Amino acid sequence: MTLDVMPDVTRDTPRKAAPLLEADGLVRIYETRKGLFGQPVPVRAVNGVSLKVAQGETLGIVGESGSGKSTLGRMLLGVDPSQEGVVRFAGAPLPAAGTPAWRALRAHMQMVHQDPLAALDKRLTIADQIREPLDIHARGNRAERRARVAELMQAVGLRPDQAGRYPHELSGGQRQRVVIARALACGPSLLVCDEPVSALDVSIQAQVVNLLADMQAANGLAMVFISHDLKVVRNLADRVAVMYLGEIVEEGPVEAVFAAPQHPYTQALVSSVPAPGKRLDGRMILKGEPPNPAARPAGCAFHPRCPHAVASCRAEAPALVPTAAGRRAACHLVGGADRLAA
Ligand SMILES: Nc1ncnc2c1ncn2[C@@H]1O[C@H](COP(=O)(O)OP(=O)(O)OP(=O)(O)O)[C@@H](O)[C@H]1O
Ligand SMILES: [Mg+2]
Repeated sequence: MTLDVMPDVTRDTPRKAAPLLEADGLVRIYETRKGLFGQPVPVRAVNGVSLKVAQGETLGIVGESGSGKSTLGRMLLGVDPSQEGVVRFAGAPLPAAGTPAWRALRAHMQMVHQDPLAALDKRLTIADQIREPLDIHARGNRAERRARVAELMQAVGLRPDQAGRYPHELSGGQRQRVVIARALACGPSLLVCDEPVSALDVSIQAQVVNLLADMQAANGLAMVFISHDLKVVRNLADRVAVMYLGEIVEEGPVEAVFAAPQHPYTQALVSSVPAPGKRLDGRMILKGEPPNPAARPAGCAFHPRCPHAVASCRAEAPALVPTAAGRRAACHLVGGADRLAA
């Protein structure tokens, strides 16, 4: 089936060669109040992230809890503003959140969160939830919208007789199917999925991941897939970005990165992938101090936990630089003789 009821925003844009999504130097600092006198402590949740996602491509984002994945995901859609840098969608900078231009753009870029119950309106039936974005964006007439809802329900594997049900009458997996159908309603070209299956029963996680993969392939969607589960990312993504304390420390084609990780942090992540069937919990994968974005170590943020750290790692933060075809890494010890000599 096709879901291409939407005009393609990526057509006739001023920069045809531009990636669908391009983030350049994104920064997000939260002020949290800590200590006896409640003094503000800046938390650099996202610290200068740049990335690109091509049309139809899946970028996986992995990293431990607190590394800034969700914050970055929200920033990519403009839900969270970036304090520095810019996000471009189809070549144009994102309009400010809440403006009519941004709301109109949301038809083309959608998010799937971890908790489907929180994302759904308790008082609306399944069919009404899925139809809502079509109403908001004024797609088609009543009959066309009804047909579209039926088509979407079938595409995500919901039965027609579930149309009149309410969210609490469905299982977690079925609710996430509703969220996915709703996200696809207006025919977006980008889907940001933030841990879309980690709240679901392990037994149905694979089904929902497969559904996302099918929907992506059928609709030529670009996807940003945030997950703790390296195995899922390896299966689903074309490229992967590894985050540590708000920064991308390694990025590249998923097979190359997982087969031969370059950054010591990625090496630790990959070597700790548990046996098939078990989930990886980012909280347990590395020894040493858990990363604290309110107290970033000087130099390379990973150096206190890095088995290879040398003097320059404590003194100077390594830049994320090209290391091989399509690959980047931020490590003084990777990527060229001059760096190895440092
Ligand atoms: N609204 C907020 N106010 C203050 N600090 C925040 C806020 N949201 C996130 N943070 C902090 O920013 C950092 C990054 O959080 P974020 O939720 O983006 O990480 P994450 O990689 O998605 O983690 P997880 O894997 O647990 O979902 C954390 O230190 C977090 O405590
Ligand atoms: Mg998160």
